[in-house]
Amino acid sequence: MLLHIPDVLSCEQIAQMRAVLDAADWTDGRETVGAQGAQVKRNQQLPEASPLRRQLGEAVLAALARSPLYHAAALPLRTLPPRFNRYQGGGQYGFHVDGAVMALSGDAQLRSDVSCTLFLSEPDEYDGGELIVNDTYGEHEVKLPAGDLIVYPSSSLHRVAPVTRGARVASFFWVQSLIRDDSRRRLLFELDASIQRLTQTGADAAALLQLTGVYHNLLRQWAET
Ligand code: NI
Repeated sequence: MLLHIPDVLSCEQIAQMRAVLDAADWTDGRETVGAQGAQVKRNQQLPEASPLRRQLGEAVLAALARSPLYHAAALPLRTLPPRFNRYQGGGQYGFHVDGAVMALSGDAQLRSDVSCTLFLSEPDEYDGGELIVNDTYGEHEVKLPAGDLIVYPSSSLHRVAPVTRGARVASFFWVQSLIRDDSRRRLLFELDASIQRLTQTGADAAALLQLTGVYHNLLRQWAET
């Protein structure tokens, strides 16, 4: 499921993040990928150990915590601390699949089920830089306003097109979902959305209760923790 979640960050939050990011020290993005990714990745990242990365990452997580749509779509169990990247001067990331298992702090690991990109540049600040996701329904091009998030399956083949003018700044992170399977996660998301709409439009309370029970019992059957 490819889902656009608008307005995760406010204009003030974006302006504050961009002010510090534009003045930050960036490093070669190839430092954080395996051999497959290193061959096709041409961008910059905030260093993994940088206090700024940690601080801004926490701000992104706090913003996500306020988004019911994000929670309904991702059903997050574990989240990799958000990272930040910048593409400019022809920078790009060729077709790749994200690593399946990633290290968290300590001995913990995360299985990547859901990939997330939070755009921090406005589309008119740069040319190119589309996130291109290949799924079973074909190729999708994504270029969103600053503050908006795209959520897509980590199993998909995807790339970032070359940035030929300006700079594309974004935050990105991976989520291990309660629901490993993308099609099951989508069913739960659609069921949740229809329950919300029925609630808002004053549907029969007993039927709503039954449907809500179906949602939770499906989640109970499918959730892995
Ligand atoms: Ni990727």
